[in-house]
Amino acid sequence: MDDLFTGRVAVVGLGYIGLPTAVALATRGIDVVGVDVNEDTVKAVANGEVPFVEPDLAVGVSGAVGIGRLTATTTMPEADAFIIAVPTPFLDDRTADLAYVHAATVSVAAKLRGGELVVLESTSPPGTTEQVSRWIAELRPDLRLPHATDGVPDVFVAHCPERVLPGRIMIEMITNDRVVGGITRRCAQKAASLYRVFAQGKILETDAASAEMAKLVENAYRDVNIAFANELSLISEHLKLDVWEVIRLANHHPRVNILSPGPGVGGHCIAVDPWFIVGAAPGLARLIRTAREVNDSKPHHVAEQVVAKTSRFRNPTVVCLGLAFKANVDDMRESPAVEVVAAIADALPDLDLRVAEPYTDALPRALHGRPNIRLQSANEALDDADIVVLLVDHDQFRSISRSRLEGKVVYDTRGVWR
Ligand SMILES: NC(=O)c1ccc[n+]([C@@H]2O[C@H](COP(=O)([O-])OP(=O)(O)OC[C@H]3O[C@@H](n4cnc5c(N)ncnc54)[C@H](O)[C@@H]3O)[C@@H](O)[C@H]2O)c1
Repeated sequence: MDDLFTGRVAVVGLGYIGLPTAVALATRGIDVVGVDVNEDTVKAVANGEVPFVEPDLAVGVSGAVGIGRLTATTTMPEADAFIIAVPTPFLDDRTADLAYVHAATVSVAAKLRGGELVVLESTSPPGTTEQVSRWIAELRPDLRLPHATDGVPDVFVAHCPERVLPGRIMIEMITNDRVVGGITRRCAQKAASLYRVFAQGKILETDAASAEMAKLVENAYRDVNIAFANELSLISEHLKLDVWEVIRLANHHPRVNILSPGPGVGGHCIAVDPWFIVGAAPGLARLIRTAREVNDSKPHHVAEQVVAKTSRFRNPTVVCLGLAFKANVDDMRESPAVEVVAAIADALPDLDLRVAEPYTDALPRALHGRPNIRLQSANEALDDADIVVLLVDHDQFRSISRSRLEGKVVYDTRGVWR
């Protein structure tokens, strides 16, 4: 086992993952330089502020900056370890867009002197960490990279995927077990010595591609299981059965634990990462692809059902509750609820459509340009509602009393009011 890492760390990408990682290291005595291409982000962090919402992060950032352990810059510094935590979205053909990882690697490569550790934290298809090593080798022929040498390399390269839950990042970053995959064993050991500085969970050392794949598999597992529940909801609806009752009964089997159906799957992890597996083995990832398709089709099905319900009324008011991608967060990225609302508005451009979302005071960009959609408080919107569609099980909506729903057509995609 390597000793605990000492030295200076550059965290590249100060988003939901990079900034908490920087804080975790800085508060344990490591000198951390946060690097981001976004000047506003850098300014905010340098002032001890957080440019987005995540519980407990603000106090961590102001504390780390206050004691002088965390600084922020747009210029890549020299450092002993580099942690790359930049976005990895997918392209139109659903393959991974590695442009951000490449750009970050290029700026890191320019600063290497020999002896450094480079860790890719971004969720990536198998082989990306080795690709990082190859990119560095091309840019820096003066250095020996681990994919190309049996001996001790000049630079150590590893992957350490992140599995924190938004809303609990500051807790889970410390307590979760972590997978650390090296291009070589030595690389994994080096990276483990860095994460051991703050991680209290187990550190599981493996090879880089297995670590990359394990992260994708975790999210594909969730996606496939949610797709099973969503498919059951479609079948139950067709058979005029209550899916929640069916699942409740089935889950009494000692080895059955079916998840909850919903209006689809959102967020930028579960709805994205399984495609990286499909991209890596298109002919083999049949179940994973189908699960994605089932979950992606659910918002359109929900919208069709709502549109069908409006035919019973002359000029109905439809109220959709929730826009976030899941309960009790403000994140609307890849949100199925937003898709449902957009699809209803597209199908019925003259419909009186009200939306309640307690975590925002503005409609997301995807809903701009549709004048028939109005953002209101749930309370206000329910007064006029003929049809109520529950899309997100925020606590605020769970507490709506049944009497408020009396006489209205209710379509509950989350099984909250059964
Ligand atoms: N957010 C999560 O809950 C979560 C969980 C697990 C894994 N991940 C993965 O972690 C990675 C980062 O995700 P995130 O949510 O932190 O993204 P984010 O969009 O919140 O932050 C990424 C940051 O990187 C910066 N950036 C982009 N290119 C850069 C470059 N060349 N140099 C320096 N900075 C650059 C951006 O300006 C941004 O501030 C992704 O691969 C994501 O899939 C995220």
